[in-house]
Amino acid sequence: MRVLVVGGGGRCHAIVDALSRSGKVDKIFCAPGNAGIAHQAETVPLKDTDVEGLLGFAETNSIDLTVVGPEAALNAGIVDRFREKGLRIFGPTAAATKIESSKEFAKELMIKYGIPTAAYRSFDDYEAARDYVFSRPVPAVLKYDGLAAGKGVVVAATYEEADEALRGMLLDDRFGKGRVVVEDYLEGPEFSFMCFVSGGDVWPMPLAQDHKRAYDGNEGPNTGGMGAYSPVPFVTEEEREYAFEAIMKKTAAAMVLEGVPFTGVLYGGLMKTKDGIKVIEFNARFGDPETEVILPRLRSDAYDIFAGVAEGRSIEEPEWDDRAALGVVMASEGYPGSYGKGFVITGIPQEDNVTVYHMGTSEKEGRLVTSGGRVLMVVGRGETLAQARDRAYGAVSRIECDNLFYRTDIGACALERKE
Ligand code: AMP
Ligand code: GLY
Repeated sequence: MRVLVVGGGGRCHAIVDALSRSGKVDKIFCAPGNAGIAHQAETVPLKDTDVEGLLGFAETNSIDLTVVGPEAALNAGIVDRFREKGLRIFGPTAAATKIESSKEFAKELMIKYGIPTAAYRSFDDYEAARDYVFSRPVPAVLKYDGLAAGKGVVVAATYEEADEALRGMLLDDRFGKGRVVVEDYLEGPEFSFMCFVSGGDVWPMPLAQDHKRAYDGNEGPNTGGMGAYSPVPFVTEEEREYAFEAIMKKTAAAMVLEGVPFTGVLYGGLMKTKDGIKVIEFNARFGDPETEVILPRLRSDAYDIFAGVAEGRSIEEPEWDDRAALGVVMASEGYPGSYGKGFVITGIPQEDNVTVYHMGTSEKEGRLVTSGGRVLMVVGRGETLAQARDRAYGAVSRIECDNLFYRTDIGACALERKE
């Protein structure tokens, strides 16, 4: 089989890596890919949102299956276009992607079907939004209703901060004309629950936890994610089962009833609050960097899963390795703000139980260089999270580059609780 993976970050490297372990896959292409992916797939210089270009490539190169990583491509309608042409593609339609791209659509769906989440109201008028926020306690949670590259959510600690954010979202149209969802502030540890979904059929993946803040101790600005680990010891089996039934399966069923059946990976960003598990957000795709600690644990054939889900078939329950995985992101100094590129990277280890996924790298004059904010995700595997962590950090310490930083406490919250 010939497979095209759309995207170029660490998540796509992990998808390519999983597909390369499949006995059914002869050839993998990745568009646009990166320097690490280029060792396992043929990279294709097409942007992930160039839907017509990707369609043409898939037709000309007899691609049997396309797997989509990033939300931008899904939002651009890549799945709809491929299906119109009779091509097999793994991912949700643009209409189903609304569960991620429209906070209001997601909230309305959850309230209508009794899926546990924070109470909310939505506004397109600045004055009305401000009056509502000012009548309620802080922190205030403000969510711009649209794709905003992870920057559309503000948890404002003071009224001044909330007002500034509302002005940006509703008066200055920072992300374009839109609405704002104002929701109740919830507290508790967050975790990610990804499931393969094909209409009403849902197959769970192991749980993972992301680390969104830039610096140790959950300090500093929000990022795309600075590290992750799986499994998540602070979520009990009963809680996981509840989240599977009352959140993930119920949401898939709700999407079917609403006439927008979901196909692909449904990502639940969940919080363990004192009143039970609640949804913070849904994504319509694999999480990054969670995928880099989940897919290495997949023991079943990735091609069978992606192809079966893409076709709307029932698949065999995927099997997972019990061993833990923990990954540390090495990012460019300055990230998530502005940063330099082109710094040479050496010393990437080739060790058992360690995999280095490339997030933002390229090759220049035969040398590996940095080319993104997040550059590498170094994943260790082990019998325990502690062992996985020690292996990941051991490998991190052997990688040399003048312009990278990383968090030293990935997994600490889980390890302090359990081990
Ligand atoms: P989201 O993009 O919706 O996941 O929001 C980004 C981050 O904002 C989440 O990971 C949470 O840490 C925080 N957040 C979002 N919604 C809430 C909420 N209702 N209460 C507390 N924190 C929240
Ligand atoms: N790790 C968060 C996300 O993929 O959106």
